[in-house]
Amino acid sequence: MARKIVVTGGKGGVGKTTVCANLGIALAKRSHRVLLMDLDIGLNNLDVVLQVEDKVVFDFVDVVENRCRPSQAYIQDGEFPTLYVMPSCHLAKRQISADQVKKVIGRLEDNFDYILLDCPAGIDSGFRRAIACADEAIVVVTPHLSSVRDADKTVGELVGNVVVSVVVNRVRGDLVASGEMLSAFEVFSLLGQTALGVIPENDDVNCNARQSKNGAFDMLAENLQTGNCRIYDCVSPYRGIFGKLKRKLKRNV
Ligand SMILES: Nc1ncnc2c1ncn2[C@@H]1O[C@H](COP(=O)(O)OP(=O)(O)OP(=O)(O)O)[C@@H](O)[C@H]1O
Ligand SMILES: [Mg+2]
Repeated sequence: MARKIVVTGGKGGVGKTTVCANLGIALAKRSHRVLLMDLDIGLNNLDVVLQVEDKVVFDFVDVVENRCRPSQAYIQDGEFPTLYVMPSCHLAKRQISADQVKKVIGRLEDNFDYILLDCPAGIDSGFRRAIACADEAIVVVTPHLSSVRDADKTVGELVGNVVVSVVVNRVRGDLVASGEMLSAFEVFSLLGQTALGVIPENDDVNCNARQSKNGAFDMLAENLQTGNCRIYDCVSPYRGIFGKLKRKLKRNV
């Protein structure tokens, strides 16, 4: 039976969809069967990030409203055959209850090792619907105070309902080394939850999940699978004399 994990974070734009897609790829690379479900209903994103948008025939809402079977709506990835995406609908928001989502997941969970649920921003009805369907939550946060504050509120909603862990995304090692950005460890300690991983700010990630050669996501997948806590080190390349030089160069780019 699949582990059902919601990828959430409170604040919009912190990288929930990016983490969901890249973590799915990293797990599929480890031969796990992974289903990514886009629960940001009305705003399809996952199919776009994973570049399968043109293969969408049916979507999640079609499954819920019995226009097709679940297996007709999920799309197998062209590159990683154990990775599947269930797209959200492209049209306006629909009233879908947590029970309806749970029912769909219940029909699918025996076919997968992991079901990752991409959650909408905020902590209102879309968030509640998503967390009601999961056993575990990954809270994505960036090292900015506004994001940490929203993540903290999100954690408050999650604790007691699901097992919570934290991923700090968009860490800039050069700024942490110069003391201009919170370190991932400061963020973990502010949130007081299990550290699952650190993802650096990365231009590859920005352009295309599929081309990302980001070892941080492999480490994240390993931590999720094994329960280890190996943390990607974004900062040490920017320490010492050569590090200072790199920092200067980066600042001038
Ligand atoms: N580690 C990263 N490095 C560089 N860019 C990133 C990184 N993570 C995310 N981004 C970029 O940040 C933007 C927002 O990411 P994403 O859509 O994943 O956020 P989100 O939390 O899902 O947003 P929403 O709340 O709207 O659903 C995207 O342009 C994405 O490419
Ligand atoms: Mg998103």
